[in-house]
Amino acid sequence: MFEKGYIDENYVRVSRDELFSFVVRVLTKLEVPEKDAEIVAHNLIMADLRGIESHGVQRLKRYVDGILSGGINLKPSIRIVREGPSYALIDGDEGLGQVVGYRAMKLAIKKAREGGIGVVAVRNSNHYGIAGYYALMAAEEGMIGISMTNSRPLVAPTGGVERFLGTNPIALAAPARDRPFLLDMATSVVPIGKLEVYRRKGKPIPEGWAIDSAGNITTDVEKVFSGGALLPLGGFGELFGGHKGYGLSLMVDILAGILGGGTWSRHVKNTSEKHSEVGHFFMAINIEDFLPPEEFREKMSRMIDELKSSRRHPDFERIWIHGEKGFLTMQTRLKIGIPIYRKVLEELNSIAESIGVEKLKAGGEDGRA
Ligand SMILES: NC(=O)c1ccc[n+]([C@@H]2O[C@H](COP(=O)([O-])OP(=O)(O)OC[C@H]3O[C@@H](n4cnc5c(N)ncnc54)[C@H](O)[C@@H]3O)[C@@H](O)[C@H]2O)c1
Repeated sequence: MFEKGYIDENYVRVSRDELFSFVVRVLTKLEVPEKDAEIVAHNLIMADLRGIESHGVQRLKRYVDGILSGGINLKPSIRIVREGPSYALIDGDEGLGQVVGYRAMKLAIKKAREGGIGVVAVRNSNHYGIAGYYALMAAEEGMIGISMTNSRPLVAPTGGVERFLGTNPIALAAPARDRPFLLDMATSVVPIGKLEVYRRKGKPIPEGWAIDSAGNITTDVEKVFSGGALLPLGGFGELFGGHKGYGLSLMVDILAGILGGGTWSRHVKNTSEKHSEVGHFFMAINIEDFLPPEEFREKMSRMIDELKSSRRHPDFERIWIHGEKGFLTMQTRLKIGIPIYRKVLEELNSIAESIGVEKLKAGGEDGRA
């Protein structure tokens, strides 16, 4: 059974259903409408199921803090500001990012169904979790889905030392024979959540992920958190293409921020703050308006098969395709439960205690803890 991530005795397993109902009971207790709480739970648990620990339930505390501090609007009036047959601009009214994002992608899919393509820009939202969640919504409808969001500044531009860019993820999902292709990635070398995982474990970060406040490459995670910055995809300087990651990050700010009348990452704030000004961008492309869907799937699958059977480097066990590790990890975790770091379990249970809901029960579906 394949699992993505490093799992050791510091983890306990929790079944998917228990984790889902835990997130829903916490959020509904805080007066998030049940349907909205379920959307957030789906998004966080999809991240944990697919091995993206940094964007799973360990994020719940931030959303709880955002709700308690009034930074998140629990009953937003998410409205269409402007629209045409193939596009829309949505104002998220500072609702939970997942709820705003879900509605916006649904609208993009509807427009694509009617007119071949749907583009939706969103302003005034909040942190929306994994970008791939929304791209997959379109792939499940037989479409190509694209999803992007800007995020608070954590990344230095090439040649700079200041946190200016967000980790601004991009996702593209497309149907294929067995399972969708899913490219879902930060435009920085790593997202900040990965540093949080290293920090919690007290481990040095790999060289090349980040710089300290003076601009030196560092492996000391504390130096990054105290004034340092992440590096754009491609790393430090121009040698390995850092300027390309920097450009991709700006591409996200243009589409997810400026196009929707919002802002760019430097001005985006934490979800717990009011007016965090996060923006998103969604696109759905209805494949059947371009060519027969079977032909598309067949060509996708041939391309994937050719890639996987191409000549492999001896240091690698196989050639992976985007989305594959996450899918296999999900299959494993649906069977034996999701690994949750013990400190995260403690944090989740202290939230449960403080608001008076039942604690999270550890122990996977096969009884493994
Ligand atoms: N909401 C936000 O503000 C925000 C910000 C940054 C990142 N994120 C999310 O963080 C998550 C993690 O981002 P990341 O950059 O660490 O992703 P990652 O490096 O884990 O994976 C990036 C992509 O590469 C694929 N992949 C992994 N190994 C591969 C291989 N050997 N060959 C081919 N493909 C391979 C994955 O399937 C994925 O599509 C994403 O879901 C992203 O949306 C969210």
